[in-house]
Amino acid sequence: MTPAGSLLTAEGLRKAYGPTPALDGADFSIHPGEVVAVMGPSGSGKSTLLHCLAGIVTPDAGTVHYDGQLLSAMSDSRRSALRRGEFGFVFQFGQLVPELSCVENVALPLRLTGVGRKEAESRALSWLERLEVADVRAKRPGEVSGGQGQRVAVARALVSGPRVLFADEPTGALDSLNGERVMELLTEAARETRAAVVLVTHEARVAAYSDREVVVRDGKARDMAGAR
Ligand SMILES: Nc1ncnc2c1ncn2[C@@H]1O[C@H](COP(=O)(O)OP(=O)(O)OP(=O)(O)O)[C@@H](O)[C@H]1O
Ligand SMILES: [Mg+2]
Repeated sequence: MTPAGSLLTAEGLRKAYGPTPALDGADFSIHPGEVVAVMGPSGSGKSTLLHCLAGIVTPDAGTVHYDGQLLSAMSDSRRSALRRGEFGFVFQFGQLVPELSCVENVALPLRLTGVGRKEAESRALSWLERLEVADVRAKRPGEVSGGQGQRVAVARALVSGPRVLFADEPTGALDSLNGERVMELLTEAARETRAAVVLVTHEARVAAYSDREVVVRDGKARDMAGAR
């Protein structure tokens, strides 16, 4: 069973690396268009939860349903197709392909689903414009600032119109001013496209952009219902 209207639901997730559990019966659910901040101390299981929700890590026990379908029952190729087509990812750093220009990086998810180069790059450019970094389009990731790089990464995560955006400490490497702007642009774009956002963060300042907060502690997730 999944809660009515929920897009992504996890129940009773357990995952252990060796003797210590990373997740110890975590539940989670998110609706289309909702921005949920996942908070909690270092090592509490936030990234593991995100990876299980995205089908990157297989839990030892528990279930993840996406759009009513059990993730663990899908074939590997179906799960990869989901990650390419319906999920977008932004991580703390280092996720851009260093050999490609910024516009090529943003166009990449489209190219991988068969969109032609011209069309893909023109759509990529319009996302770079939205994220206010069109001027770095021809540069390689190594030639742009941390804040610019994260904006490019957000553009790349959103270019294929994902239904779920997974962001793990997306502003962790940025100063507060840059971090706030990236969060503003990310949440604005997500709300407009009705993407659900699973946002892992340590910072209350970043969590303030969410609709709801979930706190992970000792591998369990607690919904701070009505926190905002
Ligand atoms: N690939 C792995 N191999 C072994 N242990 C792991 C692995 N990934 C996570 N762990 C362990 O699982 C626990 C939860 O890790 P996780 O990365 O989910 O925490 P987190 O809440 O994201 O922490 P942080 O805020 O520091 O990123 C930690 O004790 C961690 O050491
Ligand atoms: Mg983490």
